Amino acid sequence: MDNNFKEGYDFENHWNNAYQKTPVNKLGWYEKESTPSLELIASCNLSKNAQIFNAGAGASILIEQLLNEGYSNLVVNDISSSALIELKNNLINHKTSQVQFIVDDLTNPIELLKMKDVDLWHDRAVLHFFTTQQQQNSYFNLLKKVVKPKGYVILAEFNLEGAKKCSGLDVFNYNEKILQERLGEDFELLKYFNYTYTQPSGGLREYVYTLFQRKN
Ligand SMILES: C[S@@+](CC[C@H](N)C(=O)[O-])C[C@H]1O[C@@H](n2cnc3c(N)ncnc32)[C@H](O)[C@@H]1O
Repeated sequence: MDNNFKEGYDFENHWNNAYQKTPVNKLGWYEKESTPSLELIASCNLSKNAQIFNAGAGASILIEQLLNEGYSNLVVNDISSSALIELKNNLINHKTSQVQFIVDDLTNPIELLKMKDVDLWHDRAVLHFFTTQQQQNSYFNLLKKVVKPKGYVILAEFNLEGAKKCSGLDVFNYNEKILQERLGEDFELLKYFNYTYTQPSGGLREYVYTLFQRKN
């Protein structure tokens, strides 16, 4: 039976193992530069002190790139404390006071429920791991609770032609229409595009990138 459907599967342990076993730049989702995300973020014209939340950030270079661009109010989350330790270690040349680190489960949030007034929610390659209705509902309920009116949402997930598994786990594939349905009519789709990501191993992974804005 697939890991995702095993009752009580320990996802925290799964992801900690992934980050402990493999150097970050060899992971199947490693980006040397987060170019498509940065382009979408730039198009939001946010102020530099806007609150940017990175869901399931892992040890992504995006955080360092945002700090380099002057963003000073970043909140990063992951279920894996190993990932966030690695991320923090990679930021030694930066003011980590500008980054809040939250180890929590997006599908069963506790600390994350304290967030509010998020200007931008960014997720690359996280939501697609939530394969059950219950996990997806928790995720979208959290997003809708914390993103402020006129706030932005970037969701970048494996598209319908994309891989059906990642890191040994099943995934749920998306397109812009399914994401629009899940967000509801309070969110307007501003942009979307398909994007082929090349893994460190040379493998190709098909993503859909979407940018939404909350109406009110
Ligand atoms: C494929 S990686 C992508 C990491 C990062 N977003 C990037 O683009 O490099 C998926 C990430 O989601 C995190 N994750 C998985 N399930 C999670 C959950 N329930 N809550 C928070 N983070 C989770 C994993 O630990 C991992 O860092």
